[in-house]
Amino acid sequence: MAGIFISFEGIDGAGKSTHIDRLVRVFEEQGRAVTLSREPGGTPLAERLRQIVLNEPMDAMTEALLVFAARRDHIGQVIAPALERGDVVLCDRFTDATFAYQGGGRGFDWTILAQLERWVQGTPLLQPDLTIWFDLPPAVAAQRLAGARIPDKFEAQPQEFFEQVASGYAKRCVGEPARFARIAADQLPEQVWVDVHHAVVTKGWLA
Ligand code: TYD
Repeated sequence: MAGIFISFEGIDGAGKSTHIDRLVRVFEEQGRAVTLSREPGGTPLAERLRQIVLNEPMDAMTEALLVFAARRDHIGQVIAPALERGDVVLCDRFTDATFAYQGGGRGFDWTILAQLERWVQGTPLLQPDLTIWFDLPPAVAAQRLAGARIPDKFEAQPQEFFEQVASGYAKRCVGEPARFARIAADQLPEQVWVDVHHAVVTKGWLA
């Protein structure tokens, strides 16, 4: 059975987690082996880099280099072997987050990010087979995040930052419409789930 690689994206507060967990169960019920992971992170080294990226102040290029370093390790240690085995790989964020946060949010050079993407993800470029983008208006996300928990470096950013992040996601989506499924995340959770499930069923990966 061929491996399947699905990533999940959206601004902080978009509400990915419960849907990712539910999709794990649905794939497992259909007899598929699932590798659930996240970025930055997914390996001991990448998780250490995650702590640094999410907590230390640094310039946007340093941030970009660290998330791509984490990604390199994650692909080599976890994602590529899992796809080789025929697993379903569900990854909470991948490279679109770098374009959205470091490119859109922090204004770092998009063409350098594209260069790093080619170096780190190889030829042919390793990309998710499907990216589920939880598109949520930043004003709604801000309300959801307010007081929810102690914010990390990104969650503490103002709404304008997330407007830029959202434009970054929109730009990636326009560039690769076949890979993206845009889900309106400002609906009731059950309706969001119906849309997530539908996006996967449409690909022919679930009965
Ligand atoms: P997130 O995935 O939202 O996890 P949690 O739900 O535990 O907060 O947090 C990861 C943060 O890292 C998020 O704010 C986006 C940011 N990020 C980047 O800035 N660049 C990247 O390339 C990735 C993968 C994430």
